[in-house]
Amino acid sequence: MPDRFYVTTPIYYINAAPHIGTAYTTIAADVFTRYHRVRGQAGYFLTGTDEHGLKIERVAKERGVPVRTFAAEMSEPFRTMWPKLDCHYDYFVRTTDADHEKRVSEIWERIKKSGDLYLGSYEGWYCVGCEGYYTEKELEPGGICPIHKTPAERIREQTYFFKLAKYQDRLLELYERRPSFVQPSSRLNEVKSFVRSGLEDLSVSRTTFSWGVPVPNDPAHVMYVWFDALFSYLTPMLATPERRAFWPASVHLMGKDILRFHGVYWPAFLWAAGMSDDELPRSIFAHGFLTVNGQKMSKSRGNTVNPLALAEAFGTDMLRYYLMRAIAFGQDGDFNIADLIGRYNADLGNALGNLCNRVLKQTDTVSGGKFPEKGELEDLERALYGELASGERAAAEAFEAMQPHRALEAIWQVVGAANQYIDRAAPWAAQKRGDTKRAGTILATALETLGAISTMVWPVIPKSADAMRAQIGLLPIEVGAADQWPQRDGEGFTFRGVSRRAGEPLGVAVPIFPRIDPDREKQLMAEFGPLPEDESAAAAGQGKDSAAMSAPEAKSASKGSSEGAVAAPTTITYDDFAKLDLKVGVVVRAERVQGKDKLLSLAVDVGEPEPRSIVAGLALSFKPEELVGTRVIVVVNLEPRKFGKGLVSQGMLLAAGPSEALSMVTVSEKAAPGTKVK
Ligand code: MSP
Repeated sequence: MPDRFYVTTPIYYINAAPHIGTAYTTIAADVFTRYHRVRGQAGYFLTGTDEHGLKIERVAKERGVPVRTFAAEMSEPFRTMWPKLDCHYDYFVRTTDADHEKRVSEIWERIKKSGDLYLGSYEGWYCVGCEGYYTEKELEPGGICPIHKTPAERIREQTYFFKLAKYQDRLLELYERRPSFVQPSSRLNEVKSFVRSGLEDLSVSRTTFSWGVPVPNDPAHVMYVWFDALFSYLTPMLATPERRAFWPASVHLMGKDILRFHGVYWPAFLWAAGMSDDELPRSIFAHGFLTVNGQKMSKSRGNTVNPLALAEAFGTDMLRYYLMRAIAFGQDGDFNIADLIGRYNADLGNALGNLCNRVLKQTDTVSGGKFPEKGELEDLERALYGELASGERAAAEAFEAMQPHRALEAIWQVVGAANQYIDRAAPWAAQKRGDTKRAGTILATALETLGAISTMVWPVIPKSADAMRAQIGLLPIEVGAADQWPQRDGEGFTFRGVSRRAGEPLGVAVPIFPRIDPDREKQLMAEFGPLPEDESAAAAGQGKDSAAMSAPEAKSASKGSSEGAVAAPTTITYDDFAKLDLKVGVVVRAERVQGKDKLLSLAVDVGEPEPRSIVAGLALSFKPEELVGTRVIVVVNLEPRKFGKGLVSQGMLLAAGPSEALSMVTVSEKAAPGTKVK
């Protein structure tokens, strides 16, 4: 095993807040770093934000905020979110860091000198969301970007090209010689066939916007965001000899969406920058994509999950455990809240938590809460140690192969074996018949096994692992130069770091994973569970005649009044009014909702990176196309309301009149989207 491990996550775009998808990659990166650290290796974990590009420039301009200030604001949630999920990165790179910009400019110059960059011109269909060009064939009918579902723009510009085509054969040779460069292996085939189908030179500068790293000696151009961003895996590592020692990266982790950039462009860029094959990253690993409760995640659907809210509800460890256990790393998977609750109760509560609890309780009875004396081993102990030996081996191999789900499976096999061992060895029976020595041997064996388990689970559930360790009388895991993995010593029954001395004090047994009871489960399902299938939208648009509210609000309002639960106050205080966050919006899309003749589904730009999705009872008064471009007033801080069939309304529009003759409340064109109404 090499003595250093350097892992990266993608450098995330700042146009969306961190969500469960980006948390997934980041948690995986943290888990692998911890695994290598507990093995005594030096680990380095880099993440960061990708802040350049037209999209950010536009949104900042619309908001009237200097783009640098805007980028800093949007990057911050990433920097602060990951440690809250116990992901402790060593370096947070921002593509707007002066040091990165300086180094990437030097690299550009070096590549330019080598002849791999040349000036030409390019015309094509550009999607601002993707920050990339599409061929006509790749676009959907009507010139729509297949990812963002927005029209691509025709752009013609002078551009620097990178001589990618010249690297085609060298790339194919690389994949042959080092098949582990792209993982999992199924992804290697994808990359190979893309390269085999023929590479064209790549446009790597833009003149249509200025928010990027200026091209040295040609300031009309800024570097293509991917050129700039990929090098952010390298630039911070060049800054000190300590960091430099971590290059080349052991693995770049990412989702399958950006495999091509890493598997094809990145090695070519590095070669062009003068690196040898040995200086290329050891591997890139593309994991699958997550859906949420069976649905594709999207802001307009309103089903992006805030990882912090989940961590608050379930604990960071549960979130980490679930993501690493339930989804085979490398394959697509579903983040399913019912499954999460089920696994929490079964794997953590019943299996591991119970094992801990019963062993500690018994030890209390048998040896007064001290580590018991271990006597002669019988077959049952030998069998358990055998399970531990194969478990630690399998788990280590799986972690090294970046298969955390397999590692956890192997560890839980040991947990299961230990629970069975206690059932069979029955220390309570030995104690009852007065054989304290035998009872002590059983409990000592179980406690040693628990110690080994606590080390093995630490990379994934560090807090619980340390809590477990405190209860069984061990210090928290401290990583350093020593390998702490509970590796078996030869063929015997001793394992690294698990032997204990009789009489050592143990801690106090407290349930580490308290059960989620049915009431709490109901609450959690309501909060994080799937959107209800069509909550009958009958009330849509029939709410108060005085205001065309989005249908769900209409529904809740009419429900409230029919129940007569709250008497409407005749006046409100200014503070009450100030709670409303009203903003100017522009309708950018409007369409009918199938099967709901009073409803329209709108996308409204309220000055945020992406338009809001709003469902409103407007269809009796407006044709969808009439509304596009209209300035509206939006209540933006209303709780999102699910509307069935994946529709979620993220705000309410103001209008006056009865539902079949509504007038929109509007403002003059001088007010930009996002302007506060007060
Ligand atoms: N800025 C580029 C990356 C540049 S790297 C030099 C980018 N950023 S991104 O914010 O769009 O991040 C994409 C990554 O987020 C994916 O590759 C993956 O790691 C993670 N995910 C985003 N959505 C995801 C899912 N639904 N499921 C799993 N991972 C997801 O691309």
